[in-house]
Amino acid sequence: MSPSHSPWSEPPLRVLITAEQIAARNAALGRQIAQDYAGEDLTVIGVLKGSFVFVADLTREIHRAQRELGQSGSSVTIEFLGLESYGDETMTSGVVKITADLTRPIEGRHVLVVEDIIDTGLTMAYLRNNLSTRHPASIKVCALLHKPARTIQPGPIDYLGFTIDDLFVIGYGLDYQQRYRNLPYIAALE
Ligand code: IMP
Ligand code: MG
Repeated sequence: MSPSHSPWSEPPLRVLITAEQIAARNAALGRQIAQDYAGEDLTVIGVLKGSFVFVADLTREIHRAQRELGQSGSSVTIEFLGLESYGDETMTSGVVKITADLTRPIEGRHVLVVEDIIDTGLTMAYLRNNLSTRHPASIKVCALLHKPARTIQPGPIDYLGFTIDDLFVIGYGLDYQQRYRNLPYIAALE
């Protein structure tokens, strides 16, 4: 093992949101989404890589809520979109490149974009523009985290997990230099 990966050089982490808090919030969001889309078919679009854990948990909570609400008719399909923003590792430039596109057309579909975090809002603004050119029936946004202090491009967040302070966070899908995505909680990198 190289010294840079030894336990002694790990940066300190401070847990901000526990796995239990995330699970409780996901259950509430899943219920809200299931109610709002009752009787409609829904396409969830997860933004890679950061949203992969959130999408997995949230869509299962949507299913649970649909079952509890007796909504057997509405289907959920799941797509992913790979995005990379040009910039350094802690600041986006707003110039976004699609690294993996949707596998199905979304024309006429109700689309729910699922993001790990909305920071400056530049990525979501780009995405919203891009997706609207494909003529979905509707576009809504669900973000696990929002850092309002850093907003450059405001936009509606229809479903939000947690509002956080201006901190760089990792875990539950979020990375620092591609690491820490598999932590079950959200932590601040100190
Ligand atoms: P925005 O375009 O500034 O809103 O940035 C959105 C993207 O930047 C997110 O999808 C993340 O990939 C990344 N990002 C922003 N803040 C953080 C953070 O605190 N930790 C990890 N990634 C972040
Ligand atoms: Mg991201």
